[in-house]
Amino acid sequence: MKIKSLYTKFTVTTIVIMIVSGLLAFMYSNFYYQQKLKPQNDEKNTVIALNIAEYIEENPHIDLEDYLSHLATVGYQFLVLDEQGEEQFFGAPFRDKTLPSQTKDSVLKGEFFHGILEFPKETFITGFFSNELMNTIGVPVKQGDQSYALFMRPDIKMLFNEMHMLFAWILIVTVALSIIFVLVGAKYLIHPISKLTRATKELSEGSFSIQLDIDRDDEIGNLASSFTNMAQQLKKLDQMKNEFMSNVTHDLQSPLANIKGYVNLLENENLSVEERANYISIITSETNRLSILSKQLLLLSSLEQEDGFVHKNLYNLSEQLKEAIYNNQWLIQERNLMVSYSLKDINIFGDSSLLYNVWENLLTNAIKYNVENGEIKVTLEEKLDFVYVSFTDTGVGFSQEAKEKIFDRFYREDRARTRSIEGSGLGLSIVEFIVKLHDGEIMIESEKGKGSSFIIKLPREA
Ligand SMILES: Nc1ncnc2c1ncn2[C@@H]1O[C@H](COP(=O)(O)OP(=O)(O)OP(=O)(O)O)[C@@H](O)[C@H]1O
Ligand SMILES: [Mg+2]
Repeated sequence: MKIKSLYTKFTVTTIVIMIVSGLLAFMYSNFYYQQKLKPQNDEKNTVIALNIAEYIEENPHIDLEDYLSHLATVGYQFLVLDEQGEEQFFGAPFRDKTLPSQTKDSVLKGEFFHGILEFPKETFITGFFSNELMNTIGVPVKQGDQSYALFMRPDIKMLFNEMHMLFAWILIVTVALSIIFVLVGAKYLIHPISKLTRATKELSEGSFSIQLDIDRDDEIGNLASSFTNMAQQLKKLDQMKNEFMSNVTHDLQSPLANIKGYVNLLENENLSVEERANYISIITSETNRLSILSKQLLLLSSLEQEDGFVHKNLYNLSEQLKEAIYNNQWLIQERNLMVSYSLKDINIFGDSSLLYNVWENLLTNAIKYNVENGEIKVTLEEKLDFVYVSFTDTGVGFSQEAKEKIFDRFYREDRARTRSIEGSGLGLSIVEFIVKLHDGEIMIESEKGKGSSFIIKLPREA
């Protein structure tokens, strides 16, 4: 509906522009005719009339009638008037033969009549073509002792007829062709827009596989290719969302099923104390899992949703790293790990609670994916305007293929092996998010079976 009106608007506007410019051009040429061409035309014809008069005077013996009929055949119209008031016409007849008798008398008495110049302005440019006696040049002529008044004008019809028609045809054909081209051209311009509109509608209804066969290298072509691009991105996002949802449901489902199962088992009154304690500890750890997972999901969604989520302030980074190590002390001891650190006293401008999540996850990863009696090294140093935090472990490491995926949500290398190690696979994706929010970078090095190293580079005043 809208598109139809765009098409109509476009064509109507163009045609109106054509008409208006036509009118303006006509008015201008009319002005030009009245100001310039009319006086010139009058002057030119006066000179011709005077030449004729002079020739007649110098040759008193030529036959006036004969001479004027000859001239008429090459494109002139004449009226000759003698002192007795007798009128004789030569050449094509005038359409209007009115001429005031004073004019006739004054020319007979020797004055000039500039009818072409005086012809009324209201006739516009068409005055030029007006076949009227008023639109002539009048000059006095003497032949012997007889005086005449000679009125003449060029026979426009005869001189201009063919050109006249030719120009009229050129004009008509130009106008007709322009209108046709405007109609067709507008279709060509507007058709892709209707296609795009249809595609937008399809997209809003949830179908992402859009094929737009718009192959143009103008703005509309650009728009179409950005549009297809956008549709593909949306499709990817939609797939990611679905995957995410199924991961979340799975990760919620399995601890819940476990909890339910062990709660059922607890209902049995004949359980030994050890069995009971064992079941309760499983239920507790599954509840913890659920609690951590929901916290991570909450953090991820708030990171994604709010732009103004980051609250930065200046704080001591080495203190924070020590705090993270201290808070995980019991885990470190449980696994018999050796932690060493070399932390330069550095202040950084950043969101301390978000960055704490980063250190905490990198540290727990270094603990979780370590080997019994393994080592962890944490360093903090600065170079130019950047600070570098590194976590190096002597743990299980990971493969090159895994390196590309560990930042994906829910990705956990070797699900079977890591099942005994708690985690959801969201940790590193949160880390990546927060580091990006601080305009930082993550560098990783790892070798399977030897250990890994995660280095975070942050601008000091991110
Ligand atoms: N230091 C490391 N050494 C070896 N593998 C690692 C290390 N850090 C991460 N990984 C691998 O990358 C995967 C993703 O890590 P990530 O921190 O995102 O999840 P997680 O630790 O399994 O769970 P979560 O952090 O959400 O509790 C891990 O499952 C593990 O396979
Ligand atoms: Mg982790």
